Amino acid sequence: MKILVLGGTGHVGARLTVRLAALGHETVAASRTSGVDAVTGEGLGAAMAGVDVVVDVLDTVDTDVAAATAFFRGTTERVLAAEHTTGVHHHVLLSVLGADRALANGYHAGKVAQEEAVRDGGIPFTIVRATQFHDAVLTIADALTSDGVVRAPGMLLQPVDVDDVVDLLTEVATAEPAYDTVDLAGPDRYRLDELLRATLAAAADGREVVTTAGLALGADAADSLLPLGAHRTAPGPSPPPCRERTGSRSVHRARSGDLVAVLPHTSTRHVVSAPRAHVERQDEETI
Ligand SMILES: NC(=O)c1ccc[n+]([C@@H]2O[C@H](COP(=O)([O-])OP(=O)(O)OC[C@H]3O[C@@H](n4cnc5c(N)ncnc54)[C@H](OP(=O)(O)O)[C@@H]3O)[C@@H](O)[C@H]2O)c1
Repeated sequence: MKILVLGGTGHVGARLTVRLAALGHETVAASRTSGVDAVTGEGLGAAMAGVDVVVDVLDTVDTDVAAATAFFRGTTERVLAAEHTTGVHHHVLLSVLGADRALANGYHAGKVAQEEAVRDGGIPFTIVRATQFHDAVLTIADALTSDGVVRAPGMLLQPVDVDDVVDLLTEVATAEPAYDTVDLAGPDRYRLDELLRATLAAAADGREVVTTAGLALGADAADSLLPLGAHRTAPGPSPPPCRERTGSRSVHRARSGDLVAVLPHTSTRHVVSAPRAHVERQDEETI
């Protein structure tokens, strides 16, 4: 099978490209670095030649609703048009679980517009919606920082390990189109303020986290970014029973109440203490 990973140099895309190639698939990683621009369309048709499946893991830093929507809807429509021309028979999209319940954030509005474009696009599709990646938690801290202080409410997140997202994308990309969404979350739920405190401590980042009232990340309720319906529960991260370790995923579970903070640009996992939030889970299936 020939699989094009759009955004193949990114955080998810680079891992996915390696994983698919290791399974023996002819895999093409496309991004502006390789001369493919999904905004202008440059190089898109040529990259798509002979491709059976496209996995879209493109991303933008835009958080303004107009800019994010223009990027996500625009690139998707351009890619789908190229797929019609070249005969691609499965379009896989990675989106954000709960984005449709967090539309006050322009980035989430853009992802919802992107999902709509895929559903309306006429190419058989599967949409994978994942919760926040563990290693995106520091980015959330940055977004909530003003005057050197992180201000965060106690709303709930159920972060997931990026490797588990890659596992599911691999499964989906090599299967028949589902014409549906598949939701994925990590195994545990945390209050955002406590998650940020623990993650910053693990990163030796001295920023204070002040608990605020209300909501963040555009959410319209405290549980908006949780999986509220049928979903898969990923197994990781599964930290070793020690304070710190570098390397691939271990096979041990954390002690009850432990949180694994995965820091960006490293594979170091710090077991830190942040209490899990006690919230009933619903309709789970562990992958
Ligand atoms: N972070 C989270 O917690 C989270 C949670 C759920 C879902 N997601 C989704 O995961 C997806 C991937 O995220 P990521 O962290 O892997 O992003 P990333 O590391 O920023 O990678 C983005 C990729 O898109 C490429 N790209 C950007 N603009 C492009 C353009 N105009 N044309 C072609 N390629 C372009 C980049 O390569 P070049 O710069 O070389 O072009 C790069 O390969 C996103 O769609 C995001 O919504 C993220």
